[in-house]
Amino acid sequence: MPTRPSFRALSGLLAAALCVLPAAPPAFAASPAPVRAAHGMVVTAQRLASEVGVEVLRAGGNAVDAAVAVGYALAVTYPTAGNLGGGGFMTVRMADGRTGFLDFRERAPQRASRDMYLGPDGEPVAGLSTDGWLAAGVPGSVSGLETARERFGTKGRTDLIAPALRLAREGFTLSPGDEESFADASADLAKDPAARLIYVRPDGSPLRTGDRLVQPDLAGVLQAVSEGGPAAFYEGEPARRIVAGSQKGGGILSMEDFKLYRTRELEPVRCGYRELEILSAPPPSSGGTVICQILNTLEAYPLKDAGYGSAQGVHWTVEAMRFAFRDRNQELGDPAFVQNPVERLTSDAYAGAIRARIDDARAGVSEGLAPVSGEKPETTHYSIVDAAGNAVAVTTTLNGSFGARVVAPGTGILLNNEMDDFTMKPGVPNLYGLVQGEANAVAPGKTPLSSMSPTIVLRDGHPLLVLGTPGGSRIITAVVEAFLNVVEYGMDIQEAVDAPPFHHQWLPDRIALEPRALSPDTQRMLREMGHRVEEDADWPVWGEAAAILVGAPRLDESQAGPSDRPLFGAIDSRARAGAAIGY
Ligand code: DON
Repeated sequence: MPTRPSFRALSGLLAAALCVLPAAPPAFAASPAPVRAAHGMVVTAQRLASEVGVEVLRAGGNAVDAAVAVGYALAVTYPTAGNLGGGGFMTVRMADGRTGFLDFRERAPQRASRDMYLGPDGEPVAGLSTDGWLAAGVPGSVSGLETARERFGTKGRTDLIAPALRLAREGFTLSPGDEESFADASADLAKDPAARLIYVRPDGSPLRTGDRLVQPDLAGVLQAVSEGGPAAFYEGEPARRIVAGSQKGGGILSMEDFKLYRTRELEPVRCGYRELEILSAPPPSSGGTVICQILNTLEAYPLKDAGYGSAQGVHWTVEAMRFAFRDRNQELGDPAFVQNPVERLTSDAYAGAIRARIDDARAGVSEGLAPVSGEKPETTHYSIVDAAGNAVAVTTTLNGSFGARVVAPGTGILLNNEMDDFTMKPGVPNLYGLVQGEANAVAPGKTPLSSMSPTIVLRDGHPLLVLGTPGGSRIITAVVEAFLNVVEYGMDIQEAVDAPPFHHQWLPDRIALEPRALSPDTQRMLREMGHRVEEDADWPVWGEAAAILVGAPRLDESQAGPSDRPLFGAIDSRARAGAAIGY
């Protein structure tokens, strides 16, 4: 992710200093204005993919059609996270009131086993769950995108794959934003012969601005799916080649795994925050459950009066996060394998019980400590609203940046390293420092617990806010904070996604800060309350939240109601390849 210093981060300091002033929302002058459009809005992490989505909307497609076309386009133009070899979640709210949630996340191969990443000493073997073929789960994206199109879309498969096919076949010229995403992964990609041919210059150096990325093998796969649908992928040549690559590279993927793959249709998790209704990701994501638990807990605190960036407001928020992540890490897992206590965790009574245990002036204590790995992750989120008021939020990933960093020869498909989201061993932290339990142990056909949180907020039965971000376990807290920035702190949607976040995930027991998220004196006050507070200097930009606010740039001015509402789109200003584009 980009590392350049951010004017936005400075505004976080300013906001913290201004928070003693009552009532009027602070001025976050360093953020550009959100993008305004009258009819439809597409916000993605890669501008060409955003353009593809808008073209589908202009041609009469609905938001789900646009989301499907964007999903395929990102697999071509944003290979760090866009994918055919990974998976994701889609939250849908149709204008007629229908809601849906598609789980097209990876499943563990049939030959996976509980202790597959442990060495003879019973400890996790470094890199086994993150690098190379053994890290890969069975990909779900093609199945998911096609299920979405069939369930909620209006356009034909060929129409929606065509833009991605053209971008793969004819190529596209890399912009400075695109270049950034290739820089760090290049050395690893160069080690895999098939990846090297596509993503690295012939001399072994990283692709640069102005280079043209042409992907004929990926175009071949897209052509096959365009003609033959998901069966062409899961039972045809692409699956056979991925399985061959896996066998050669020490992986365990089989044709049986591909044949068994199914997208799951689930009900979104729902909760209320004041007059707003939140729809978000159910298990196998922890996202919606944890977001609802945190917001239910926070709803009773006077956050607005405490002020954005205040030590008191951060303290309450962090304590709510501490409890919610404890429950996440211990209790949640794939619903086909474990009983998830979602109702209990998202109930008002439970939130009340948590508040009773939060001391307003002292930090709580999480048992034990665990280090956070510094490895660079990458996921991507996109948000779409169409002229009819259909809303779609999609988060999709290979897990780490470029996933397992292996390509199946002849396919141009990068494989995910999603197996690392499982519990390798209870108590041992994963890529995101998450210390997880038995509920999320590896088992054949099981889906690893996720934090991805594609979220849609309704007011008076109409979409108000569409929101999500990458960031591993920080996805959840970033979505909560962007929501609070709009709903409690009066920010416009661009300011809300730009504001540098803070994060607590139970273990390790510390408040992590994006650099300059809180002023030094606010940090000091939190330390005096007993918190450990640390800026993550080696991870300067955590996410790339992509959001749409319906009706007005900020909440106070938003009008509820289905028609003639302008749309305001925003992606984190530091996401240089991304774009909010409307029409
Ligand atoms: O599903 C999850 O929670 C992770 N695999 C998401 C990874 C991610 O967000 C990486 N992005 N920065």
